Amino acid sequence: MRRRAAEYRRPVRRRFSHWISLLLALFSIAALVLFVVQHNHHEDRVDHLVLERDVIDDVAEESLNFTEETSSATSFSRQLAEQMTLAKAYVIIAKEHNNLHLAWELRSKIRSCQLLLSKAAMRGEPITLEEAEPIIKSLSSLIFKAQDIHYDVATTIMTMKLQIQNLEELAHAATVQGNFFSQVVAEALPKSLHCLHIKLMKDWVKMPSLQELANENRNSPSLTDNNLYHFCIFSDNVLATSVVVNSTVSNADHPKQLVFHIVTNGVNHGAMQAWFLINDFKGATIEVQNFENFHWLTASYSPIVKQLLNTDSRAFYFGVYKDLDVEAKLHNPKYLSLLNHLRFYIPEIYPQLAKVVFLDDDVVVQKDLTQLFSLDLHGNVNGAVETCLEVFHRFYKYLNFSSSIISSKFDPQACGWAFGMNVFDLVAWRKANVTARYHYWQQQNGDGTLWNLGTLPPGLLSFYGLTELLDRRWHVIGLGNDLNIENRVIENAAVIHFNGNMKPWLKLALSKYRPLWEQYVNRSHPHLQDCATG
Ligand SMILES: *[C@@H]1O[C@H](CO)[C@@H](O)[C@H](O)[C@H]1NC(C)=O
Ligand SMILES: *[C@@H]1O[C@H](CO)[C@@H](O)[C@H](O)[C@H]1NC(C)=O
Ligand SMILES: *[C@@H]1O[C@H](CO)[C@@H](O)[C@H](O)[C@H]1NC(C)=O
Ligand SMILES: *[C@@H]1O[C@H](CO)[C@@H](O)[C@H](O)[C@H]1NC(C)=O
Ligand SMILES: *[C@@H]1O[C@H](CO)[C@@H](O)[C@H](O)[C@H]1NC(C)=O
Repeated sequence: MRRRAAEYRRPVRRRFSHWISLLLALFSIAALVLFVVQHNHHEDRVDHLVLERDVIDDVAEESLNFTEETSSATSFSRQLAEQMTLAKAYVIIAKEHNNLHLAWELRSKIRSCQLLLSKAAMRGEPITLEEAEPIIKSLSSLIFKAQDIHYDVATTIMTMKLQIQNLEELAHAATVQGNFFSQVVAEALPKSLHCLHIKLMKDWVKMPSLQELANENRNSPSLTDNNLYHFCIFSDNVLATSVVVNSTVSNADHPKQLVFHIVTNGVNHGAMQAWFLINDFKGATIEVQNFENFHWLTASYSPIVKQLLNTDSRAFYFGVYKDLDVEAKLHNPKYLSLLNHLRFYIPEIYPQLAKVVFLDDDVVVQKDLTQLFSLDLHGNVNGAVETCLEVFHRFYKYLNFSSSIISSKFDPQACGWAFGMNVFDLVAWRKANVTARYHYWQQQNGDGTLWNLGTLPPGLLSFYGLTELLDRRWHVIGLGNDLNIENRVIENAAVIHFNGNMKPWLKLALSKYRPLWEQYVNRSHPHLQDCATG
């Protein structure tokens, strides 16, 4: 009897001790996770930074010594970025617990943090103690509050565990965004894309039939038929352009009624033409032009051409720049590129067209866009979504209001709008001489004191009073820099825009949004297969 009883008890006890050790193990894993997340962030970040720096060195090693800059510039920005990561995690938790006020408070502090980081990045100087201290202090107290009042440890641990992947991504995002040189990394063409361009170029040269086909297409009457729907895309990135066109035709009710006008540069002209001839885009008409053949686009006509030529010759004569700002411009093809400014010449490039939809190469189209063409623009030239709800997207953010030619004509609180999905009424454009306005402002900014870089500031000035605001669902921005866009907003968007540094074709891409872009790439294409490994 005794032995049997003992035999009975033993498995029970064993099971019981199993439970205890299982619980203990779970608890210690959870504690470890919490510990790692909250306390060892610093070490994590150092790894990230080192990694990031390696990447940067790879990209631009011949021309600039980044070692100095990163080590001196990051100490406060690193602290800020770390706090921001933690704060973002608590925003998620607070939202899950319906503590919307706390989430809101955290968000607004995160915003000021981001603003400070981007300000520092713009001017290329480290953040000072005076600037960082108030934000670090208030963010710390908020984080403390969140930890303290809000959640019992168990909940926090469970949520943290669920969010761990998200957190890693946030940490990554914060590091990348906080880094002055991330733009350089973001703009460098990845190896795989370069490989694709080279393979396509070979196809183009080796297959005269493609060139014949291209010549035939050039005379297609569809290209100037105003009963069709015309889109323009200016890009040097074949894969990105392919996704824009493919997503547009894939979601169109009648793809055969769509006409795409692509303009690229000389180097990529052959590759771009080859890609659009050898792949299927559901019968849409596609033309690919090389802007180097636009002989009317001269330095005497266009201030931007003149300015870019000057930059080039200065680079040529002086060799390596010491000045960081100029250095950043030189290494940032996005801002340097004339391709970006072609959007101001659409009526000149397509003299026979009456209306077009302009698409940036980092968008994905998710709905049929033909309704855009019948929207009433009320005599305006540009249909765009406004970006006022995002706190800092007002005129004062983009333009120098210390200058009287700006402050006498514009309201610093005026709402910005987004480039990247715009309806342009070209008849109204020609009538209002918008290109001449653009030339005027671009000339005024010859010394770069009115705005820093890019096409949005001259756009805001040139289309001032000529912009019709569209329903925000037409164009949702931020997929290249904002992890907190709600799924519902993305699902309902006609066009989503990966503006920001984390482009979907880069390793930096936010994995949360990447599939939205990736689904429009045919990964079984032999060139892409070959280039994925090479
Ligand atoms: C870059 O700067 C650091 C710190 O000033 C210096 O030690 C290093 O030798 C420099 N590297 C190059 C390649 O000039
Ligand atoms: C538009 O600009 C051209 C050339 O700058 C000028 O000749 C023309 O008068 C302008 N038209 C209007 C309506 O301002
Ligand atoms: C802004 O404009 C003022 C007045 O023209 C000028 O002194 C200042 O340098 C400008 N600021 C920047 C950052 O270019
Ligand atoms: C276009 O997108 C579809 C998915 O909608 C995909 O199956 C197809 O392979 C893509 N085509 C190209 C040329 O990338
Ligand atoms: C993807 O590319 C391959 C090879 O070019 C082609 O055979 C296939 O039809 C494409 N798939 C789609 C869905 O376009």
